[in-house]
Formats: sequence, C-alpha cells, structure tokens
Amino acid sequence: MRKHIVAGNWKMNNDLAQSVALISDLKRQNQTSNAEVMIAPTFTNLWHTTENLKSSPIEVIAQNMHFAENGAYTGEVSAEMLKSIGVNTVILGHSERRAYFNETDEMLAKKVDAALEHNMRVIFCFGEELADRQASTHESVVANQIKNALFHLKATDFQSIVLAYEPVWAIGTGETASPEQAQEMHQFIRKTLSDAYGDTVANAMSILYGGSVKPANAKEIFSKPDVDGGLIGGAALNAEDFYAIVNAF
Ligand code: PGA
Repeated sequence: MRKHIVAGNWKMNNDLAQSVALISDLKRQNQTSNAEVMIAPTFTNLWHTTENLKSSPIEVIAQNMHFAENGAYTGEVSAEMLKSIGVNTVILGHSERRAYFNETDEMLAKKVDAALEHNMRVIFCFGEELADRQASTHESVVANQIKNALFHLKATDFQSIVLAYEPVWAIGTGETASPEQAQEMHQFIRKTLSDAYGDTVANAMSILYGGSVKPANAKEIFSKPDVDGGLIGGAALNAEDFYAIVNAF
C-alpha cells in the first residue's frame, strides 16, 4: 500500500508571528485520515517550527536546498544545515525555483544526490507549462524532467523519493487539472518509472498532485488510483482548509 501524503508548501509567506499562529491553529486540527502530513515553512521559520512540532505527527520539511556541503554560496542552505535542525525532507525542483531561479535538470540532479547522501527524503516536483499541454508535448516534457534529474539513481534510492506532478498552468491560478487529467498523467509517470526500474519501484512510489488543490476538489482528485496525495500551496496557509484536504483521503 502506497503512502498517502499531504504536504503544505508555504512558499514565501508568513513572518514569525504569523507562522507561530498558523502552527498553533494546525495543532488544534483533527486528523481523521491516514495521510502523512508535512509543512514546508520558509527557512527563517524552520527552527521554531521543528521545535514546536516535535511531539506532533506533522513533519517539517524544507522548500529548497543547495547541493554543496558548505562554502561561498551566499544566501544558500545545505543539507547538513537542514539535518542539524531536524529537517529530513526537502522539496526540490518546484516550478517556481525552475522559472524564477533558473534551476536546471542538471542542478536538480546534484541536489537530489546531495539530499540522498545525507539520508534525506526528496519531494521532487515537475510539470509541464500551458504551451506544452497545448502542443500535446506534456508527456515528453514531464518524462524528460524526471529522467534528467532522477534516472541516474539506483532502484533502492527511490525509497527516498516522492514525486509531485504540478502542471505549471494550475499552480496558484485557481485552475486545477481535472481529476481525469491528473490520473492520466500520474499513470503515465508510473509507467515511465516502471519501464526504467520495474513494477516494484513504480508501484511503491507515492505520486502527489499539486496545483490549486482546495477542500472543494481534493476528494475527487485523491479518489483517482494513481494520485497518492497532494502538494498544497495557497490552501496550506489556512489550518482548517489544509486539514479539510488532509482528511479528504
Ligand atoms: P497552489 O500551489 O496550491 O497554490 O496552486 C501548489 C504548489 O505550488 O505546490
């Protein structure tokens, strides 16, 4: 049975006070589903959040990290730094990192390697842009993103990877992929994985959907057989909405 995961990506939102308030709201929510719950606050909020949620089932994860161990990389944070404050999972390859910070498949491959070397778990994001979908190249675009950043790994490495399919045209736009579009892509992604690594790896892989998931549409999206969870942006900034999504499983 694949793990169900709901991860909230706070992006560049919440100062210290807002973050403390959201954490205490999150702690008041009731979880009725079996999903693993994660939140990804900004770097400045990671330390107090990990401390605050130590005895909670919510895992605190990072939104990004650098591939180097340490050194002259102004503004960056390493795997070791994250591990030292109890952060064991990192989101890599988010479309906003790719689009605004020029992250390439090659850089992402290095980041994935660095995370795995430090025994971290990776939520690896990818997804096509609107123009790709209109040109019907979405499958090849997504397959290449996955191959270029991940297919140098060993089969056992995939135990530490979670995939997150996020069509760029659905992120923060209010436009969600239909549950059928999500299922079709997730099935394609699992097949791509199976062709390269076999069914055991592919069937064990949790594949999350991201892009305007809300309490109103989560249940239908999560009901699809190849959708194993969600990466949630906007709706993760409100504890009740976030838990309505967590409990949609
Ligand atoms: P959204 O963001 O839910 O606000 O569309 C999703 C994401 O970027 O992970």
